[in-house]
Amino acid sequence: MEEHCFKHTPVLLNECLDGLNIKPDGIYADGTLGGAGHSLRIVERLKSGKLIAIDKDDTALSVSKERLKDFENVVFVKSDFKNFKKIATDLNLDGVDGILLDLGVSSHQIDTPERGFSYRFDGSLDMRMDYSQGITAFDVVNNYSEADLARIIYTYGEENFSRAIARKIVETRKTKPISTTMELKEIVEAAIPKKFHGAGSPCKKTFQAIRIEVNGELDGLDIALKEMVECLNKGGRLAVITFHSLEDRIVKNVFKELSTDCICDKTIPICVCNHKATVKLVNRKPIVATNTELKENKRSSSAKLRVIEKL
Ligand SMILES: C[S@@+](CC[C@H](N)C(=O)[O-])C[C@H]1O[C@@H](n2cnc3c(N)ncnc32)[C@H](O)[C@@H]1O
Repeated sequence: MEEHCFKHTPVLLNECLDGLNIKPDGIYADGTLGGAGHSLRIVERLKSGKLIAIDKDDTALSVSKERLKDFENVVFVKSDFKNFKKIATDLNLDGVDGILLDLGVSSHQIDTPERGFSYRFDGSLDMRMDYSQGITAFDVVNNYSEADLARIIYTYGEENFSRAIARKIVETRKTKPISTTMELKEIVEAAIPKKFHGAGSPCKKTFQAIRIEVNGELDGLDIALKEMVECLNKGGRLAVITFHSLEDRIVKNVFKELSTDCICDKTIPICVCNHKATVKLVNRKPIVATNTELKENKRSSSAKLRVIEKL
């Protein structure tokens, strides 16, 4: 059973705990619970405080419920963290003191072949974090138009061969549906000329793109971050870990906007927007993994942590 071997090493763990500035009586939320790597260390620091632990993946929730079973002050919520405002209202929370988002997929999701996230294992094309959600990777690969496939692979994968890959997918599925990760892998490999295969897998960008599309990972992320800030108490912190430039750009831009007084076009001589900063940046530059962490956890190499504090 999937749950018995849930492995995920939390990235930038101490940096997140420091960033959240945890108070023993505070209310905290982990919007991406996963295997509770960060949550466990947060809840260990609480006394009368409370942790709201959110994930949309049932396996992550059941594994974490077991891992955190000794703590009575954890409320588990199966939801998309983008519903945070509603979650806080439903739980009658006036405000929270810190929110953590460790975006993307867990190692466990990637390393479970039947979830279909990885080109390293054979599995059916699924890629859903939340099984109750309708669209799968199979639907995207077999039903999207060539133009839409090319757009997604280019936009969410930043793949230069997006059009060639989309063309090959459409050509292949004319004979029979593309149903497995290995079939998709072969198609992508065949669409990209060998001399451009490089050191890593040539499939990485396409799989990332389809995963982002299936889970709507970037849709409304900016709005969700702003709503989370609205839910923070004064002095409360929002800490976000990203793993690729697309999501990092969204986080960076939202944090910049929220921490800036005037957001008028630079060519306008006087301020007409009346925008007032609601947060301050806790660090100007994103925090990245130390050499020690990089040696121990390869996944940390692309991680960037950004933290803001509510004014
Ligand atoms: C990188 S893992 C988090 C790992 C966790 N911090 C730990 O140390 O164990 C990301 C988790 O967030 C969940 N997730 C991703 N996007 C989500 C969303 N929009 N709403 C709720 N959960 C989400 C995934 O299902 C996955 O379990």
